Amino acid sequence: MSPLNGARIIDLPKTLDRRGNLSVIEELKNIPFKIKRTYWIYDVPGGEIRGGHAYKANQEFIVALSGSFDVILDDGKERKIFSLNRSYYGLYVPKGVWRQMQNFSTNSLALILASAKYNPDDYIFDYELFKNSII
Ligand code: TYD
Repeated sequence: MSPLNGARIIDLPKTLDRRGNLSVIEELKNIPFKIKRTYWIYDVPGGEIRGGHAYKANQEFIVALSGSFDVILDDGKERKIFSLNRSYYGLYVPKGVWRQMQNFSTNSLALILASAKYNPDDYIFDYELFKNSII
């Protein structure tokens, strides 16, 4: 089965309050992995593309904390585009999926929770190599 089938939007708990709303992520409860790392992408100039790689082992959960952007997932055969524009849901990205992020709005803020520590050896940057590594 393609790992792309495991990619999905996950709705997060939302506490609506006249003082302001609150959402929450707990590992293994709202997302299917333990969080080893958190990073965020911000101040993205218009038209810029982020990502453009796959991970061999790392899984991610991506939330648009502010603004909007698109995440394009690709298993070498099929592509799916997910538009993220609310902070009360996110996109689960399984390992072994090519992922690219683009169409960042002004002042957008992408929060990314990762299942593994940063490891340059976990990246596949060559799309042809990625395609050919799929059984
Ligand atoms: P990269 O993962 O290539 O960013 P993107 O996928 O959004 O294009 O990372 C960009 C740079 O940041 C790269 O030089 C490595 C560094 N980096 C870290 O040091 N730690 C991290 O956890 C991440 C994600 C990146």
